[in-house]
Amino acid sequence: MPNIILPPEWRGREQDVTDMAFYLNRRAFLSKLGVGTIALSSASMLACADPRAASVAAGPAPDGPLDTIPDNAPRVGFPAERNMKYVVPERPLTERVAASSYTNFYEFDGESKKVWHLTGDYKPFPWTLQVAGLVEKEQTFDIEQLIRKFGLEERIYRFRCVEAWSATIPWTGFPLRKLIDACNPLSSATHVRFVSVNRKDEMPGIRRQTWYPWPYYEGLRMDEARNELAFVAVGMYGEPLPKQNGSPLRLALPWKYGYKGPKAVVRIEFTNEEPKTFWNDLAPTEYSFLSNVNPTVPHPRWSQASERFMSAEGRFRQMPTQMFNGYAEFVADMYPGEPRG
Ligand code: MTE
Repeated sequence: MPNIILPPEWRGREQDVTDMAFYLNRRAFLSKLGVGTIALSSASMLACADPRAASVAAGPAPDGPLDTIPDNAPRVGFPAERNMKYVVPERPLTERVAASSYTNFYEFDGESKKVWHLTGDYKPFPWTLQVAGLVEKEQTFDIEQLIRKFGLEERIYRFRCVEAWSATIPWTGFPLRKLIDACNPLSSATHVRFVSVNRKDEMPGIRRQTWYPWPYYEGLRMDEARNELAFVAVGMYGEPLPKQNGSPLRLALPWKYGYKGPKAVVRIEFTNEEPKTFWNDLAPTEYSFLSNVNPTVPHPRWSQASERFMSAEGRFRQMPTQMFNGYAEFVADMYPGEPRG
């Protein structure tokens, strides 16, 4: 298997631009300028239109990507015992600094993977998680209450972004199923909708990228949400989540493309219809509701047959992508119609 070693300045390279944003941002810039899609190939014009310079946090920048774990994040239950049922023996763990440097969190910036230095103003705590919709009773939880109620475990999961990069991450958290049960959904609930935080004053990407339909929103079918793999992560690498990785809580759904896992979730709603989702609303032909990892179904603009596995900062290795990201034994029964090439 070939080794692809990218130079240290990998974050800024063209092949590593945020593919999800690449097309959409430029279309948005151009439409704001009143320029039609015919001009999409005009690189010089795009460079002029890019207001990236405005993407700055007002407060002091953190010193490094691991300096962004909030001081007041609950540490009860850390470090959690590893659940050996969920490990990835055939791949190394992605180095911690790399996993917290190379991130997608559009609320801070959608043009760059390196957003940790923009998180200085984001103060997640105090945090409450609202539960609404088709439930016996609407309620709110705080994070520490959830951790004490459910306990914490560590699971090592493969992570596969739709942009064809991947990682192996040790998450700390609890099964989503436990949270769903504690919400007491009505039997009429067929789907769950998740909404991320929307703090314009603390998140420069929300202020700058006004063309996105904030807040970030995602959804699952109820059987998916209750699958044993669906996990609520409050930490990674044995510590609470850094801000850029979704502090204070996010979803980890290892058989789906990474964007199905919303970060910084503030609201869970139970519904009786398929909820709309952020990326599907923006580009329905590119990002489907289900979005299961599938090497036989190419993205309209690139192949999904292989991935660039990130082991450390700047080090990627090309690897074949597996059906359901290697989790078929846990999830394949839920998708009898999924094309298998
Ligand atoms: N959640 C929110 N709220 N905002 C985002 O921009 N990006 C998604 C997902 N969850 C995103 C989000 C995408 S595209 C990916 S690939 C993963 O988070 C990235 O997780 P990581 O940065 O911790 O690797």
